[in-house]
Amino acid sequence: MAEPKKLFIKTYGCQMNVYDSERMAEAMGGSGYVTTDSPEDADMILLNTCHIREKAAEKVYSELGRFKGLKAEKPDLKIGVAGCVAQAEGEEIMRRQPLVDLVVGPQSYHRLPQMEAKTRAGEKALDTDFPEEDKFEKLKSRGPAAKRGPTAFLTVQEGCDKFCAFCVVPYTRGAEVSRPADRVLAEARELVSRGVREITLLGQNVNAYHGEGADGRDWGLARLIRELAEVDGLDRIRYTTSHPNDMEDDLIKAHGDCPKLMPYLHLPVQSGSDRILKRMNRSHTADSYLRLIDRIREARPDILLSGDFIVGFPEETDDDFEATLRLVEQVRYGQCYSFKYSTRPGTPAAERAQLPESVKDERLQRLQALLNQQQAEIQAEMVGREVGVLFEKKGRLPGQLVGKSDHLHAVHVIAPEALLGQIGRVRITGSASHSLAGELIAG
Ligand code: SAH
Ligand code: SF4
Ligand code: F3S
Repeated sequence: MAEPKKLFIKTYGCQMNVYDSERMAEAMGGSGYVTTDSPEDADMILLNTCHIREKAAEKVYSELGRFKGLKAEKPDLKIGVAGCVAQAEGEEIMRRQPLVDLVVGPQSYHRLPQMEAKTRAGEKALDTDFPEEDKFEKLKSRGPAAKRGPTAFLTVQEGCDKFCAFCVVPYTRGAEVSRPADRVLAEARELVSRGVREITLLGQNVNAYHGEGADGRDWGLARLIRELAEVDGLDRIRYTTSHPNDMEDDLIKAHGDCPKLMPYLHLPVQSGSDRILKRMNRSHTADSYLRLIDRIREARPDILLSGDFIVGFPEETDDDFEATLRLVEQVRYGQCYSFKYSTRPGTPAAERAQLPESVKDERLQRLQALLNQQQAEIQAEMVGREVGVLFEKKGRLPGQLVGKSDHLHAVHVIAPEALLGQIGRVRITGSASHSLAGELIAG
């Protein structure tokens, strides 16, 4: 039998790229590839890229430059660019970096095996179409079902129709599309049969999910979650990322009455100023967001909230920024991501007057100081509480395991290795900067 060829994939960006990289690796399995952790061993290197901020996109070119030596030593090495930079910049990538053999967008990577064959024949391959066929069906794993870790991502929805004025995602991922529920359920069952206990449903706007249900009707995300909760062996369900305008009543209700749905919600708001929210084309206000949070907390009082913020959006004044700080104070987030506004070519906000970098820096620091303080307080409040922890891997200390709590905190616990992949009851005993410590509760 021929030696398997080796594929090195580096993933940037969001969880959907992580999921996509897994699918691409499986698809290339059909062409005789196995994955490797070292680019030096690889017959093919694939960068699965992110275009969300300028820094993320530029990283791709500096990374590609580093493969020059490898390619010189090994002329058969194929180098590919996948993901959102591939979609946004297409041929430009090959022009800027001639060592690239292959460019494939997020909607066409099920064609990767044919594209790889083309590069073996000495040609370049580029595909950034939005094809009609269902890539997920084409990507079904052909190999034997390998055992895997206890947590998995599962894409149920892709694309975005919201067109926030700063954001490239509607252009790189295309219009909102939902996968039919029976396919999602089948993939979930398959994951569970391979050892998965927790599934995070993914979508750029996951709560805009409207897929064809098993009964032929349209199902929203709440209905999908309720059906998934019936899958034996699946213990935890999460979903991300949500948009405030798509938080339907039944989904809020599910947080109160579906025990497998974990008490954690990532609900980006971006700004606390209505003036800026309007300019961002977010179509919600600070107040409508706060009222929504109240309703979610009514359904599930201990839910941990997380969010995304952009500071320094064009025309953001000191008062606008203060409004963001006030909103954060009112919500009390357990965990957040915050970014300096980054000008993205082709988006409406790129045309407007930009703020100086120093203003963005100063605002980001102030916002992050507040968010870090909230995170530390909320972590400290967990001390003494009893939570479920799904153990994922060994910790750094002997005898220690690390897992995620129901609220998605990393928790370090002295526990027998047999508990790997299992959920233990744990009492939280301490809080460090980005994790908690706990002790196993007997029985
Ligand atoms: N669909 C999700 C977010 C996808 S992008 C949502 O609507 O919430 C993830 C985060 O990146 C966004 O929430 C936003 O905070 C940030 N982001 C997007 N475009 C950006 C830009 N041009 N500059 C800085 N941050 C940006
Ligand atoms: Fe981007 Fe807005 Fe769509 Fe989120 S909702 S992906 S921020 S355009
Ligand atoms: Fe980045 Fe594309 Fe995800 S731009 S954040 S990889 S959808």
